[in-house]
Amino acid sequence: MGKDKDLNLFKLNEVILPKEECKKRAYFESYEELYRQSLEDKEGFWAKIASELHWFRKWDKVLEWKYPYAKWFVGGKTNLCYNCLDRNLEKGLRNKVALLYVNEREEERKITYGELYEHVGRFAQALRDLGVEKGDRVLIYMPNTPEAVIAMLACARIGAIHSVVFAGFSRDALKTRIEDAKPKVVITATHTIRRGKEIDLLNTARSAVEDYPFVKYLVVWNRKGNVELKENERGFYQLIKEQNRIAPAEVLDSEDPLFILYTSGTTGKPKGILHSVGGYMVGTYITTKWNFNVDTQNDVYWCTADVGWITGHSYIVYGPLLNGMTTILYEGAPNYPDPGIWWRLVQRYRVNIFYTAPTAIRMFMRYGEEYPKKYDLSSLKVLGSVGEPINPEAWEWYYRIIGGERCPIVDTWWQTETGMHILLTWAHTKAKPGYAGRPFFTVEVDVVDKNGNSLPPNHVGLLVIKAPWPSMLRNVWGNPERYEKYWNIVPGYYCPEDLASKDEEGFITILGRTDDVLNVAGHRIGTAEVESAIIEHPSVVESAVIGKPDDIKGQRIKAFVVLKLGVKPSGELKEEIRKTVREVLGPIAVPDEIEFVEKLPKTRSGKIMRRLLRAKELGMEVGDLSTLED
Ligand code: WTA
Repeated sequence: MGKDKDLNLFKLNEVILPKEECKKRAYFESYEELYRQSLEDKEGFWAKIASELHWFRKWDKVLEWKYPYAKWFVGGKTNLCYNCLDRNLEKGLRNKVALLYVNEREEERKITYGELYEHVGRFAQALRDLGVEKGDRVLIYMPNTPEAVIAMLACARIGAIHSVVFAGFSRDALKTRIEDAKPKVVITATHTIRRGKEIDLLNTARSAVEDYPFVKYLVVWNRKGNVELKENERGFYQLIKEQNRIAPAEVLDSEDPLFILYTSGTTGKPKGILHSVGGYMVGTYITTKWNFNVDTQNDVYWCTADVGWITGHSYIVYGPLLNGMTTILYEGAPNYPDPGIWWRLVQRYRVNIFYTAPTAIRMFMRYGEEYPKKYDLSSLKVLGSVGEPINPEAWEWYYRIIGGERCPIVDTWWQTETGMHILLTWAHTKAKPGYAGRPFFTVEVDVVDKNGNSLPPNHVGLLVIKAPWPSMLRNVWGNPERYEKYWNIVPGYYCPEDLASKDEEGFITILGRTDDVLNVAGHRIGTAEVESAIIEHPSVVESAVIGKPDDIKGQRIKAFVVLKLGVKPSGELKEEIRKTVREVLGPIAVPDEIEFVEKLPKTRSGKIMRRLLRAKELGMEVGDLSTLED
């Protein structure tokens, strides 16, 4: 990229303007010009960004691309934890609040960069002393609290690969992930807080590790303080307290693995998406800084996601800490004890940047304007959206009621696999409700047909990313075929399996997934995972799960269930099935609707035709039935 000033989006973003103003001033052209320039020298662009971070050894080559495998910052040596902590201490941020934890009871804790460094350093050394070495996996099954962040950073510090499992998942979901990742250590807490209740995690974790002798230790954050630990268990804070050494940050290769995060795919087993150190670091660093128009020194930033999902990894933990920001972690429900809780916290902490999911916005819309109106939300400058398309009504409400018609709405389309934002509605460009926006610099995105031919504007097709980007997944853990599939669906391109269309100005709108993956309240859930959970109920023979449109959650889960011969369908049985799903998979996967059926429609080869069930359910055209069995 040519002149320095061209990169200075910050400058461009200094003044945030409402939609109408943006239209008047030609901010739109600025993005186009910058984007065009970034394509001219992609590697130069990323080299410049990367050099803002600390490297123990500079890379020899920015990109090595051997389709479909990419290496970024080849030969470079760095450490993500060092960049999040040590580097910020060197910059004088020791006493700045790094993590601001608050929960639905409005209990708060503030942890400075200095304190975080101490905790992470000691915990990292403690993990070492437990025998965790570079490349070993550590599974983190924790609530959305600073302890989860400490555990993640400690792994990153010593080069252990963390795999965080969302605490809303239950026993079987946890077991599947443990079996696949084979962690040496599992880190958990006694419980998490939600809706006024303490939800057990410890017993779930204990029963999940039982069958796996490769798990040497269970580390427990004893939040209740009175739980007796077993022989192979260690106390989280005890380890920190008893440790007087700070583990040095391991000199890692840019391509060393950083974490595995499981996500749902078409088939039953979740995929362990593998990210590596250097590229992920550079990608999350710059997208946090630029896309949210952050004043990294002063802004208070709140992303309402959970560390158990990619949004939490990239935009609660790594992106904000790399930028030396204050990042809020919230534990609890968004509407408990009342639907004003989040707005009360925005007022209390003078939050400047707020990043949430459309499902939350739609829920708040239903409660009405009076809740947000009770609070002073004038500190807000930028509003982000993620996880699913934001419908124009929700957009409007978010813009008007939460943003006071002052704040741009930055929609961000991306995935566990992409690591960082790929499409966004840039804060300084014009707004288009209903669109996920345009690509981040250097990233080439298109809407194509099955053969990869670019489609004309306003035609629905497959979204593709045409070339590698730094924070892209490097592999699927233990399953390279599944990795290669991402690049084979449309030959030559990365296919996220989302349907999309593009308008004349290059704005992309997302229409939903092409595979059997549901998006329930912004959470990716595989139909196959829900089906196998339902089958665990002793009265069930078979089941098929589909998504139905839902005003708040985007999609709701409907299950068709075939019962064993002689079992009588009943309302109680439906409740029991729901309970089974809650126990084995977790509350987020519980079907909203259950219908008992005699049999399921199948293809000649025995595959369940969910498409047919969906079409019938929604009263749509059924389509080609030639492969149907009966
Ligand atoms: C969907 C979450 C429309 C999409 C970061 C994608 C979106 C999947 C948006 C990834 C958005 C995410 N507009 N759809 N702004 N953001 N999606 O891996 O279908 O949990 O493929 O990552 O969510 O979900 P994941």
